[in-house]
Amino acid sequence: MFKTRITELFGIKYPIIQGAMMWLSRAEMVAAVANAGGLGIMAALTFPTARELREEIRKTRSLTDKPFAVNITLLPTMRPRNLEEYIDAAIEEGVTIIETAGQNPRQYMKQLREGGVKVMHKVASVKAAKTAERIGVDAVTIVGFEEGGNPGLDDVTTMVLVPRAVDALEIPVIAGGGIGDGRGLMAVLALGAEGALMGTRFMLSRECPLHPNIKQRLLEASEKDTLMIMRSINNPERVVATDFARRILEMEKKGTTLEELLPMIDGRRQKQALDKGESSQAIIPCGQVVGLIDDLPTIKEIIDGIIKDARIIGKRLSEGG
Ligand SMILES: Cc1cc2nc3c(=O)[nH]c(=O)nc-3n(C[C@H](O)[C@H](O)[C@H](O)COP(=O)(O)O)c2cc1C
Repeated sequence: MFKTRITELFGIKYPIIQGAMMWLSRAEMVAAVANAGGLGIMAALTFPTARELREEIRKTRSLTDKPFAVNITLLPTMRPRNLEEYIDAAIEEGVTIIETAGQNPRQYMKQLREGGVKVMHKVASVKAAKTAERIGVDAVTIVGFEEGGNPGLDDVTTMVLVPRAVDALEIPVIAGGGIGDGRGLMAVLALGAEGALMGTRFMLSRECPLHPNIKQRLLEASEKDTLMIMRSINNPERVVATDFARRILEMEKKGTTLEELLPMIDGRRQKQALDKGESSQAIIPCGQVVGLIDDLPTIKEIIDGIIKDARIIGKRLSEGG
């Protein structure tokens, strides 16, 4: 029931993919997902240098012999880095799957192709998905409005975007945004997706290196407790609706400048807040699906639970009950 072109392409047991999460999806999380039969994605830019990414890849390899992926996020940052070096590091360390996100990966395709890796690209619109297919990626992940992180500018939900992408593309589509359990997995498979990407669900796992205070806050959050900031700079981000996030929104409404905004959304500030558990000091990306999550299991328990529930749903639907 769970064999798709995505499980075949990546050599994984289940069509469950853990979304890259800056600062959080490091060796322990990525390896735990791989060992439980899914695909873990390491967020490469967590590491200040390509050398540190190499070390983390080696650490992951010491924890699992299963495939895993590295994400290269192509968004403008305050500390621009040589992304070719990061890609080379991943390829040389034997990573076989690279995810790009944020911007069209055209300028890196030659390097990725020559490196012999499978390429998946994450987008938030059908137009961007078609461009990615045209430039030769192997699979596209399409994320809807519900997504934690950067759901794009169009405000279209996963429920509509996924079948639109499936109809428009030949290559396999992975669905993301708002998926957190067996129901979500079965729903996106029914929409024609061949894999389900989940970020927020894996944020609330034992292995996720997020401070317990923030985990607790998220466990108490409902589906109404996120909001979108940074629309004014054309890079909307869905985050937990903290006072800090509301302050940013107010600044945007009053016509703040990019220079004023940048220190508020700075990555190092975010890292400190995530480490210290101070949700009042930085933004915390999070999806609406947080409203469906009220437990803190291990990653194996999450994946086993999703598959168990999905099988029950499949049986119920096929029996017409
Ligand atoms: C805390 C957090 C950090 C994230 N960091 C990144 C990132 O660095 N790069 C990226 O491409 N996506 C990032 N994302 C998005 C996820 O990879 C994934 O697309 C998203 O979480 C899926 O939606 P969901 O949260 O509704 O499951 C992040 C998401 C969260 C919740």
